Amino acid sequence: MEKILLLPGDGIGPEIVDQVKLILEKIQKLGLKFEIITMPIGGAGYDEHRNPLPDVTLEEAKKAKAIILGAVGSPQYDSLPKDMRPEQGLLQIRKHLELFANLRPAFVYDQLINSSTIRPEVIGGLDIIIVRELTGDIYFGKPRGRRVTKSGEAEAFDTMSYRESEIRRISKIAFEMARKRSKRVCSVDKANVLDTSMLWRELVSEIGRSYPDVDLSHMYVDNAGMQLVKDPKQFDVILTGNMFGDILSDQAAMLTGSIGMLPSASLNSSGIGLYEPVHGSAPDIAGKNKANPLAAILSMAMMFRYSFDRFDIAKAIENAVTGVLIKGYRTIDISEDDKKVIGTQEMGERIIDELSTV
Ligand code: IPM
Ligand code: MG
Repeated sequence: MEKILLLPGDGIGPEIVDQVKLILEKIQKLGLKFEIITMPIGGAGYDEHRNPLPDVTLEEAKKAKAIILGAVGSPQYDSLPKDMRPEQGLLQIRKHLELFANLRPAFVYDQLINSSTIRPEVIGGLDIIIVRELTGDIYFGKPRGRRVTKSGEAEAFDTMSYRESEIRRISKIAFEMARKRSKRVCSVDKANVLDTSMLWRELVSEIGRSYPDVDLSHMYVDNAGMQLVKDPKQFDVILTGNMFGDILSDQAAMLTGSIGMLPSASLNSSGIGLYEPVHGSAPDIAGKNKANPLAAILSMAMMFRYSFDRFDIAKAIENAVTGVLIKGYRTIDISEDDKKVIGTQEMGERIIDELSTV
């Protein structure tokens, strides 16, 4: 039986993943068979096993068909040595499972359009996806570290590097994705300055030639930052490296005004995926039944689409989310005066009710 591994993690992670679990159990009752396992990661991994990615967690992760992660990180772990920090749990699981393709959609719900700081006409109907390379670049390049220079000064260094195979495989994902959407890829780099970006642009252009039906453009990352704010709807699929993708995906998320709504998927070449909300662990509201579980729930929808090929279930979950928004239910982060503010658990229950009607 296929396994789904839940990694609640830290902060609001556990309470939003609880809601995911309840919905998964409901879906199980509808006849889809899978086993649900839960393991610690991040600060929770450190607390239990003195390791942000405990061996037991990694072992289960290797056996799972899909993983749903809540969030990692909390200020209480800030003083730990670098390799014990919660973020390492996430970076290491990405690397170990070779989850090189990070898909980060940014879309605006009509019902939430006023949550954005950007004018409605600029973002209305926005639906873009950032395809971020996730296991290379300056995040993992070697050498890295610290040393003392001859003159006795401290110096730190990281290496930005990309191999041909890494660029080719992520490019293909972006072009394939574009084929299922409006057939446009904008590749973002810094090819006016960086060697890695020059190679990136060369190879993306080459791959692009095997997708003549997809319109390919290139943009420097600084300009992409501006264009995302000025006219985000000019984009469809944005293809970019790990570092630039980290920054641009937060920016794109903020355009929508409701980061509590955005899911993401990180896939490897065998279709195994890790699914997580784009938002962080929000330690300030943790344990208060205030967190918005919808990004995690929409991440589960992505899981059914990309790891289980169950577009029907994915669509049913997405429709349930829209249905609940239309009925006026909101968690505090997306609330408006005339709307019914409910907690994390109630939001999960509303989704289950809505699923029962489909
Ligand atoms: C993200 C996060 C991570 C990253 C951190 C938590 C290591 O910001 O998923 O975007 O930088 O990739
Ligand atoms: Mg980030």
